[in-house]
Amino acid sequence: SESGCLSIVVLGASGDLAKKKTFPALFHLFQQGFLQAGEVHIFGYARSNLSDDGLRERIRGYLNGASDEHLSQFLQLIKYVSGSYDSGEGFELLNNTISDYETSKNNESGSYRRLFYLALPPSVYPSVCKMIRSYCMNPSSHTGWTRVIVEKPFGKDLDSSEKLSAELGKLFEEDQLYRIDHYLGKELVQNLLVLRFANRLFLPLWNHDNIANVQIVFKEDFGTEGRGGYFDQYGIIRDIIQNHLLQVFCLVAMEKPVSLKPEHIRDEKVKVLQSVEPIQHEEVVIGQYDGYKDDPTVPDESNTPTYASVVLRVHNERWEGVPFILKAGKALNSRKAEIRVQFKDAPGDIFRCKKQGRNEFVIRLQPSEAMYMKLTVKKPGLEMATEQSELDLSYGMRYQDVKIPEAYERLILDTIRGDQQHFVRRDELRAAWEIFTPLLHDIDAGKLKSVSYKPGTRGPQEADEMSRRMGYVQTHGYIWVPPILA
Ligand code: BG6
Repeated sequence: SESGCLSIVVLGASGDLAKKKTFPALFHLFQQGFLQAGEVHIFGYARSNLSDDGLRERIRGYLNGASDEHLSQFLQLIKYVSGSYDSGEGFELLNNTISDYETSKNNESGSYRRLFYLALPPSVYPSVCKMIRSYCMNPSSHTGWTRVIVEKPFGKDLDSSEKLSAELGKLFEEDQLYRIDHYLGKELVQNLLVLRFANRLFLPLWNHDNIANVQIVFKEDFGTEGRGGYFDQYGIIRDIIQNHLLQVFCLVAMEKPVSLKPEHIRDEKVKVLQSVEPIQHEEVVIGQYDGYKDDPTVPDESNTPTYASVVLRVHNERWEGVPFILKAGKALNSRKAEIRVQFKDAPGDIFRCKKQGRNEFVIRLQPSEAMYMKLTVKKPGLEMATEQSELDLSYGMRYQDVKIPEAYERLILDTIRGDQQHFVRRDELRAAWEIFTPLLHDIDAGKLKSVSYKPGTRGPQEADEMSRRMGYVQTHGYIWVPPILA
C-alpha cells in the first residue's frame, strides 16, 4: 500500500515549526522525486483566515535553493483549509477537501494514504486527534492507511505523558502513531548502529573494560530568545536531554538487536533505558544564564535550567562503573552536538616523560559532521617525542558530492513508507520519563538550584568539575580543526 493517492495534512500550517521544518522538508522530498505531483496533495490547516495563495506566500521564503519553476510546481500542490482545533465543522471541511481531491484522481489500482502532521502545541493534541479520528480517517471502503506524526513535548512528566499516551492510544493503533524525535533523523545518529555493530574493531572495546566515560553533549550559542515563556515551563532537561540526548544514549549503550526490524531495535532501546539507575543529586549540575529572566515572559523567580549536566549509570554487565554524562546548554560559547567516548589509559606506559593523552572517539553530529579518533603518535621529526593527533573522517571531505538530508525530510519519508525504526515507541517514551521524572520534580520543587553562568561561556564551572570527578580527562593544548575544503 505504498503507492496511490497521498494526502499530507499539516496541522498548524501557519506556525513556526511548519514553516521552518515541515514544509521545507516536504519541498526537498518533492525536489528529489519522492513526492510525485500526480499522486500527492498537501493540505495546510490552521485557524487563521488565509487563502491558498496566502499560505503559499508565507512558506515561499523558507524554501531556498530551487528554480522558480520547481518552486511554483510545489506550491501549487498546497491547499489551505481554515478551522479551529476542536470543532467538527472545520474537520468535516478538511475531510471533504481531501475527498474531493482523492476522487478527482484516477486512482483505480492504488490505495489512499492520509498522513497528518501535528505541528501544534501539545495542549491541542487530544482534541485534534479526536477530530481526525471522527472526521478524517481514510474511509474503510478504501485500501491504504491513516498515519499521524506527533512531536514533543509528550507531557511534562511520567503521569502527564502516560495520560497523553492513553488518550492517543484510544484513538489510534501504535503502528499509526509516529512520535518524532528529530535527532533520530540525523545522519550520524543513524550511523551509530552501523558503526558499532559492523566494525570488528569496536565490538571488543565497547564496554567497561576499555571505556572510561561517555559524554553526549549539546551546545547552542544563543538563548531562548522569543520563546522564553514557553521554554520556562519545560527547561533544558525536557527540551533536549530527556528526548534528543537520551535517544542518542540508547544507540550508544544498547545491546545488539536481534535484527534491524524496528521492533527489535526498539526492544533493545527500552531494555537499556530500564537498566539506568536512579539519578543522584550529587551527579547533576543545573544552570541558568544571566539575562534569561530579562525576557518579560519569564517569571522573575524562575529556577528553570537552561543548562544541565546529568550523569546516567547503567546497571548491566557491559557498563557497570562507566558514567554517561549528558550535557546540554543554551547561550554557550559554541553551537555543536557530539558524542565523546573516552578510553582508559594504556596500562604500563613506557613513554613516561610526558603524561599521554587518552584515546577518545568523537562523533560530531553537527555542524561539520565527522568522526575522529584521538591517538597518541610519534611527533614527526628527529626527536623521539609523542603527541596527540587523530584519524579523521570528516564528511565534508570524504563525501564531497553528497548532500546530507535534513532530519525531518528523512523522517517524513519513513512515515510514508511505514518504517517506525526511527520513531519513539510508547513504552520507550515511558521508560525515558521514568528516568527523569524524580529529578524534574525535585527541580520544580526547588530542591536543586540553578547556578548562574555568563552567556557565551562553557557554562557553570561546577559542570566541568563534575566531569573531572567522573574521570573525564581533558587533553590540554589539543584541538581538532574541521578540515576546510579547498
Ligand atoms: C528542539 C528544541 O527540539 O531542538 C530546541 O526544542 C533546539 O530548543 C532544537 O534548539 C535543536 O535542534 P537542532 O537540530 O538544531 O540541533
